[in-house]
Amino acid sequence: MVAHGLVGDERSLTDTVIKAFEDTQDPRLKTLMAALVRHAHAFVREVDLSERELEAALDFLVRIGQSTHDSHNEAVLAADVLGISTLVSLRCNPAAQGQTAAALLGPFWRADAPLCEPGADIARAPIDAEPLFVAGRVLDPAGQPLAGALVDVWQASPDGLYENQDDGQPDMNLRGRFVTDDAGRFRFRTVRPRGYPVPTDGPVGELLAAQRRHPYRPAHLHFMVSRDGSKTLITQIFADDAEYLDSDVVFGATGSTVGRLVRHPAEADLPARYTLDYDFVLQAGTRTFPKPPIK
Ligand code: BEZ
Ligand code: FE
Repeated sequence: MVAHGLVGDERSLTDTVIKAFEDTQDPRLKTLMAALVRHAHAFVREVDLSERELEAALDFLVRIGQSTHDSHNEAVLAADVLGISTLVSLRCNPAAQGQTAAALLGPFWRADAPLCEPGADIARAPIDAEPLFVAGRVLDPAGQPLAGALVDVWQASPDGLYENQDDGQPDMNLRGRFVTDDAGRFRFRTVRPRGYPVPTDGPVGELLAAQRRHPYRPAHLHFMVSRDGSKTLITQIFADDAEYLDSDVVFGATGSTVGRLVRHPAEADLPARYTLDYDFVLQAGTRTFPKPPIK
């Protein structure tokens, strides 16, 4: 038991609290909690936090928890709109060796999307939207193809909802996993994504409204590319003509992950369609998977 002593004045409280953590066995937890308390106490002093404001902040946290359930994760959304997810993603995945830039996971990845044959359509019901044909390769930093890589893709429907948010869509709609061939290639069919608002019916939506921020994301596809021997790449590819590229509410759009969507006019028996070609470069490392934000 650590006897941290009687609390003296307001100024010495921070050191007293950190001293109470002295016996923490896990050294990383000890470091994290001491720094968290130092920064949180500094924040309280800097803004001269009132008792009412502390109540409101704690109520916000409680409501984040209450809004979170199997098919919605308000905690991830909160970290996303505050730029915390993007900061951690950029710091943990510096694109230093020519690998594809990472982007935040977001709250909508589900594990175990259907494994699909090359070229399969990830729209699991007819959708009235322009078809998009996506193709590319998975490479190492020397440009060598990586066979057997798993390319996990997910996107919102053109009306802006992921299937887990929308009873009108089949389970696992617009989600699929593809395995690269010997030349590192993958390809699939989908529909052209559109920009959409993040969920605004919870406490995060209230915060965005109070900050007079729009809730929109630029049109994008999510990718998680993984294989044994490579560091898992979590990223998003943005449509080059998308609205909100320069004001993404979750700060996910970085310059190098903008992809070129090429429009091909209707011809003979083919409708107008888009193509997107994009190669992913993986760095050597360990294959890991995040904890799915939803079930
Ligand atoms: C998304 O793109 O799926 C997303 C990312 C962050 C917050 C909300 C949605
Ligand atoms: Fe998304």
